Amino acid sequence: KTVSIVGCPFSGGQHRVGVDKGPIHMVNAGLVEQLRGLGWIVEFDGHHQFEDISAEFDPPIGKLKNPRFVSKVTQAVAQVVGDHATRGSLPLTLGGDHSLAMGTIAGTLSRYSDACVIWVDAHADINTHETTDSGNIHGMPLAFLTSLSGSKSLGNNNGGQPVPFSWLDSVHLHPSRLAYIGLRDVDQGEKTILREHNIAAFSMHEIDRYGIGSVVEMALDRVNPDRSKPIHLSFDVDALDPSVAPSTGTPVRGGLTFREGHYICERLYETGLLVAIDLMEVNPSLRDAADVQQTVAVGCSLVRAALGETLL
Ligand code: ARG
Ligand code: MN
Ligand code: MN
Ligand code: MN
Repeated sequence: KTVSIVGCPFSGGQHRVGVDKGPIHMVNAGLVEQLRGLGWIVEFDGHHQFEDISAEFDPPIGKLKNPRFVSKVTQAVAQVVGDHATRGSLPLTLGGDHSLAMGTIAGTLSRYSDACVIWVDAHADINTHETTDSGNIHGMPLAFLTSLSGSKSLGNNNGGQPVPFSWLDSVHLHPSRLAYIGLRDVDQGEKTILREHNIAAFSMHEIDRYGIGSVVEMALDRVNPDRSKPIHLSFDVDALDPSVAPSTGTPVRGGLTFREGHYICERLYETGLLVAIDLMEVNPSLRDAADVQQTVAVGCSLVRAALGETLL
């Protein structure tokens, strides 16, 4: 069993500096050695270098900020993740902001067309080019993956260059293959989308009501009823309560406890169906050293749980 770490120091999907340092901090905290300690062969040959497209050459399209840059980076990530998956290795992508999931999930789908996605997050990240308020693309990856947004919605004029995200036009994650856990800050337009597409969404309310154990099974029942399809786990660290993971760009109170977050990872590992993992939105620049250390440590610990670390 081999895991390939895809370090993505990328922050172009949102406006705060520092989230690009997340993967470097997680690797420096000893993640590679920790995963070797769990018996994995770990491939890591340095963090990815992304060629910057400066703002001057990347004006907004509609409300979308940095569209060319985000499109180019996520396309590269899709290639890398897809290659690792095709070689039979498990890609572990460290972010970086959550727009990167356009790349990771497209990469997973290129190898496993029947994969389902468990998206653990305070946010739904499914704003379209029309519903987005912020214009930050990290709030939009699932709209592009499910084809609610696409290059066609961005017009057809990009000065002779391909329209951003045209590479995603052929990618379609069916909404029935997506389940959320941990939601608590969902925009009005996103609520409409979740309802209209009957997307499996388990908010903190459902976790309070049924407990995390039942909620994970309910989520799997919706997207993977016979527990046979490959699973892509996309974990935004802001799903955790800010008291557990303070150093992230869009913290929202009332989140997952340390154990609830770990339980999700442990249970998905236990299914034997995990084929790709994302750990996103660790931003080591926002808080004091102790809070940063705590957030980086919990990020590493979630990854270990998803890769088989057990309590006994
Ligand atoms: N819904 C808000 C937006 O569209 C916040 C998204 C936060 N996303 C994240 N990956 N942290 O901007
Ligand atoms: Mn989030
Ligand atoms: Mn598409
Ligand atoms: Mn997110």
